[in-house]
Amino acid sequence: MMKGVHFLAIVALLSLASSFVSAFDPSPLQDICVAIDDPKSAVFVNGKFCKDLKDTKADDFYFSGLQIPGNTDNRVGSNVTTVNVDQIPGLNTLGISLVRIDYAPYGQNPPHTHPRATEILVVVEGTLLVGFVTSNPENRLFTKVLKKGDVFVFPIGLIHFQFNAGKTNAVAFAGLSSQNAGVITIANAVFGSNLPINSDVLAKAFQLDKNIIKDLQKKF
Ligand SMILES: *[C@@H]1O[C@H](CO)[C@@H](O)[C@H](O)[C@H]1NC(C)=O
Repeated sequence: MMKGVHFLAIVALLSLASSFVSAFDPSPLQDICVAIDDPKSAVFVNGKFCKDLKDTKADDFYFSGLQIPGNTDNRVGSNVTTVNVDQIPGLNTLGISLVRIDYAPYGQNPPHTHPRATEILVVVEGTLLVGFVTSNPENRLFTKVLKKGDVFVFPIGLIHFQFNAGKTNAVAFAGLSSQNAGVITIANAVFGSNLPINSDVLAKAFQLDKNIIKDLQKKF
């Protein structure tokens, strides 16, 4: 009898203790982090090293220039200005960052995903057709036309896009739930990878003629 009570007390204590420790690994804050034996040539500890508090200043939490439009004179007609831990070192470990996106008339931020962040976007100028697609097997499209002042959310990891459906420039700002959200632009990753993916693989995957694949690979 005593032994049973003792055992229950230990189980209760253990379950209490486990609520104070992390039950799984922290999410990675960069694409890859290969382990090495010699710490002298190490560059990351899942994020960045911390500056000594006595050397820390207000400028470590500051960025200036987000009033300046990005140049949209490129083949997709958009430009993303990123303000993440590389621009504001004080963002390290804080799980948040910001972008400004400019769109030429009929320009687009092409289908892409952020492997480490959910995004919340607000339109401050123009009209945007936006959407995201859920994972297999549903692949359901959630889409909306946004005007000035409208807000839309792109859940973490899902493929999404914005298209400027208007005749004027459009501007949006977005918050991302990572200091280093990462961007995988689908067309660039699939047709423009370095080294290129075997064109037979892509022909079958996209159910396209191999010459079309080769043409796409030249474009990206
Ligand atoms: C975005 O705009 C900046 C500033 O004008 C420019 O330096 C950069 O090349 C542009 N990026 C693209 C992809 O057009």
